[in-house]
Amino acid sequence: MSEPNAPPPLEITNLDIEQDLALEFVHVVEEAAIASARTMGQGDPPKSDQVAVQAMRRAFERVSIDGTIVIGEGERDKAPMRYIGEQVGLKPPPGVQYPKVDIAVDPLEGTNLCATGASNSIVVLAASEPNGLLHAPDCYMEKIIAGPACRGALDLDAPVEENLRIIASCLERDVSDLTIVVLDRPRHAKLIQSIREAGARIRLIHDGDLSAGIAAAIRGVGVDAVMGSGGAPEGVITAAALRCLHGEMLARLVVNTPELEERVAAMGIRDSKRIYTARDLAPGKKIIFAACGVTQGALLNGVRFFGEGCRTHTLVMTRSLNKVRFVDAIHLQRPPGPRGVRLY
Ligand code: FBP
Repeated sequence: MSEPNAPPPLEITNLDIEQDLALEFVHVVEEAAIASARTMGQGDPPKSDQVAVQAMRRAFERVSIDGTIVIGEGERDKAPMRYIGEQVGLKPPPGVQYPKVDIAVDPLEGTNLCATGASNSIVVLAASEPNGLLHAPDCYMEKIIAGPACRGALDLDAPVEENLRIIASCLERDVSDLTIVVLDRPRHAKLIQSIREAGARIRLIHDGDLSAGIAAAIRGVGVDAVMGSGGAPEGVITAAALRCLHGEMLARLVVNTPELEERVAAMGIRDSKRIYTARDLAPGKKIIFAACGVTQGALLNGVRFFGEGCRTHTLVMTRSLNKVRFVDAIHLQRPPGPRGVRLY
């Protein structure tokens, strides 16, 4: 017999992360993209970032999840949407529990790109069942990212020219036909020189190795691989996308100070020199990845505003359901004119 004062059993809602929540997450990235796109070109990166964060936070409040941020904007910052362990989601009615979901966010990937009106800034999130995304520290990560044709063929420790030769062979083309994306940073001088000497083409980017990584796993976007070091949080989110796209990714944390060594150990990572695959970084069985374009990009259109509203372009993917969807949405803020909805 149950205790007279025992609380009623929790009714756990039966929502499936991929099946039932994909559109909810599309809404979250759309809201943040619309807000940050309003600041495009204003030359104020913190403001662009802040409005994206606030809009994302508000949008999460309407999603029926018991969400935990496992990757935010910066692990040591206690601002909303930024600290690890922050709870997000709609408050459930008494006696109800929503599904537990781990969430990795980058409310504005390519903050400077948005602030200067440059291409390829996106709002992005990945979600999975608990423990489906590595809790990575906010440090650099060495990465090599390519498409499904290269699965299992690359070696992070091999010379650059060797990996380029393998990528070319997997894609059935010459090394000189390849386009490799590299973040334009002094730390990549040697890498850039090696790629040039091997004869491959390079696209240097100012920011945004996450969207470049996704592009590398999709044919026809003009990116064959991404090489070099970028953010580890961005690396985990890229891995979630690559699991949905069956792409190839190898990565290793750049742990080069005693302070970082300590931080990594405190996060439960025993071998700081481990080479991770996409599956190690995003081991979830159920994974949702959603990215909405802020400024115009190779993969996603930016937000376009017009009289009665705006139009957004979102990529949403689910791993176990094997769906890759592009959502082209019109958001009406007031009724359209007499000629109906405009497709700008
Ligand atoms: P933001 O999300 O902060 O705008 O990051 C942009 C970015 O270029 C990432 O794409 C990349 O992983 C990282 O910064 C590289 O860091 P750094 O600018 O220190 O080289």
